[in-house]
This record gives sequence, C-alpha cells and structure tokens, in this order.
Amino acid sequence: MIEEFVGRGYYWVMRVLIVGCGYVGVALGAELVKQGHEVLGMRRSAEGETELSAVGIKPVVADVTKPEELAQLPGPFDWVVNCVSSTKGGVEEYRAVYLQGTRNLVEWLAASPTPPKKFVYTSSTSVYGQTDGSPVKESSPTEPASETSRVLVETERVLVEAAQQRKFPAVILRVAGIYGPERGHLFLQYLKNEAKIEGQGERIINMVHRDDLVTAIVTALKSGRAGEVYNVVDDEPIAQIHFLRWLSETLGKWMPPFAAEGEGTGRKRGITNKKVQNRKLKMEMGCQFKYPNFRKGYTAEIQRLDQAGKLDFKPEPRE
Ligand SMILES: NC(=O)c1ccc[n+]([C@@H]2O[C@H](COP(=O)([O-])OP(=O)(O)OC[C@H]3O[C@@H](n4cnc5c(N)ncnc54)[C@H](OP(=O)(O)O)[C@@H]3O)[C@@H](O)[C@H]2O)c1
Repeated sequence: MIEEFVGRGYYWVMRVLIVGCGYVGVALGAELVKQGHEVLGMRRSAEGETELSAVGIKPVVADVTKPEELAQLPGPFDWVVNCVSSTKGGVEEYRAVYLQGTRNLVEWLAASPTPPKKFVYTSSTSVYGQTDGSPVKESSPTEPASETSRVLVETERVLVEAAQQRKFPAVILRVAGIYGPERGHLFLQYLKNEAKIEGQGERIINMVHRDDLVTAIVTALKSGRAGEVYNVVDDEPIAQIHFLRWLSETLGKWMPPFAAEGEGTGRKRGITNKKVQNRKLKMEMGCQFKYPNFRKGYTAEIQRLDQAGKLDFKPEPRE
C-alpha cells in the first residue's frame, strides 16, 4: 500500500490481485486501475494478456488449484478478489476450482507476513435452494439440492472461518445471474431462438448487470465487514415469462415456445425459485446501482447491439 498525493489530497494506492480475471475480473480491474490502484489479473494461461494489458491490468499466470503456482506470485497484496469460475464444469471441477482453490488461497495468504486487508469472493445466489418463490435474504437457509451449489456453500464456510480466525477479513458476495455486454444466458438463447418458457413461466429469475457487480465488489473491498455475506442482485427479481414478454415487445420478436419445467434449461436437479433481496448491500454499504432493473440494463445492451449492427435476428413466421 502506497500513499500518494493527487490533486488536493492523499489517497491510498492498493495493490490488488484478481484471481480468475475473466468477464467480471477485467471490468473490475479496469475500474480499479481508473481509481489509481495497481492491479494484477490472474489466469491459467498467457492467452488473454493483451485483453488485460489494454485496460492497465498486469497479467500473471497461475492456477488456483496449484499451491506451488500461487507461491510464485509477486505478493503481498492489499486486496484480493476471487472471481475464478469453473467455466460450467461438473461437481469435480467445482470442488477443485472453488473449494480447493479457496482453501489454497487461504493457506497461502494467511501464511504471508502481510495478509490482505480485504478479500472478496463472488459466490452465487444458487446457494439458496428455495423453490416456493419466497423472498430470501442473507440469513435465509442455504440448503441447495444441487451438488455444485453445495460446493459453493462449503466454499463460503471456508472463508467465514478464515475471517472468524482472524486470518484476514473475508467478505462473501452472493451474485445473481450476471448479464451485460455480450452476456445474459436467457437473452442470448432468446436471440438465437433457443429459449423456452419453462412450465407456466412463473419461475423467478434474479439478475445483476456486470457493471453493478463491479460497483458492489469495489464497495465490499472498501467497506464490507469481515465474515459477512451480501446478496448482489438488482431491485426487481422477475418471473421468466414477464422478462421474455418485455424482450418480445421491445424487440418485436415472437415469444418462445412453452416447455416442461427444466426442459428449457437442461437442468433436472436444483431448479430454484426465489426472490433474492439486496437490502443489506444497499442499507449497510450504501451501494447504488446504475441498472436497478433488467429493463434499464437490457435497454442499454439492446442499444449497444443495435448500434454495432449485431441485432440481426430475422422474425420467424408462425404456423
Ligand atoms: N455467470 C454468472 O451468471 C454468475 C452467477 C453467480 C456468480 N458468478 C461468479 O462470478 C464470478 C465471475 O464470473 P465470470 O463470468 O467473470 O467468469 P469467467 O468469465 O468464466 O472468468 C473466469 C476466469 O477464471 C479463470 N480461471 C478458470 N480456472 C482457473 C484456475 N484454475 N486458476 C486460475 N484462473 C482460472 C479463467 O481464465 P483461464 O481459463 O484462462 O484460466 C477466466 O478468466 C465467478 O466466481 C462466478 O462463479 C457468476
């Protein structure tokens, strides 16, 4: 940590490590660089170095599942963000990347003479297994049916224990479905005519725009409380059918067909239905969202695609 004098005052330059510097990590790194911090972004290969360097992130190569590679990283770090992703692997990959990866990080960072001042982990709202459409907050039970989500519950526990044992202050963010430039699972399926309305389409979907997630991570680095959990989701969880209807009306494109529950997604187990609440994030940390609902966020994305000439779907005829 270095104190620098800029303009009319001093500010602290943090040395930040982003573990798993992908879709969210690059946007986060770019924001932290803009705020004057020194940012290192970690991936398993050097392939993405140009993308990272272009926004001022220093690329480093290491695999979170390999402790010997973590030990080679040029620490110490003031802030560490773990936003590594198993890139949709199965339960074994989840165990290796999330659970063992986090254990490796805890062991490595706690052994440092200067452990991080803050550690933020991007967990998932999939840890809530509720299926009745009820509102859930951070204190709600986390008993998911799916094995991969149970791995995330275990991973969170490792970090809460690290915080309780005062190894370093770890903060957990439970992140909803991320969308933004070029992302958004159901939206992209819809554009490709691959979306299905599950059952009656009543299942609630919880979303957050990537840029608001970046804001939440930066806020948690600055003022998140050790061992605490915060949901990161927009203000308006929405039934799948209402989301699709809005897209249909906005784009002038047919509604997708109906399908049996789970058929549209390929998921047989672990289909949840809940309204994730963001009150704690807003009340405790004063986090403000640029895209408080999907209409704001997807309007921006649709305009971006349109301007780039990428909104080239053809209206399909109906029998
Ligand atoms: N997508 C969602 O809707 C969603 C919802 C809730 C929570 N989250 C969480 O949000 C976080 C950010 O997601 P994202 O969309 O930014 O993921 P992403 O784009 O897939 O990026 C993940 C990054 O991790 C790197 N990586 C993968 N395995 C690694 C390993 N073993 N060691 C080091 N780096 C590794 C990948 O690069 P290489 O492959 O080059 O190593 C990639 O750059 C993740 O923690 C994810 O679980 C996502």
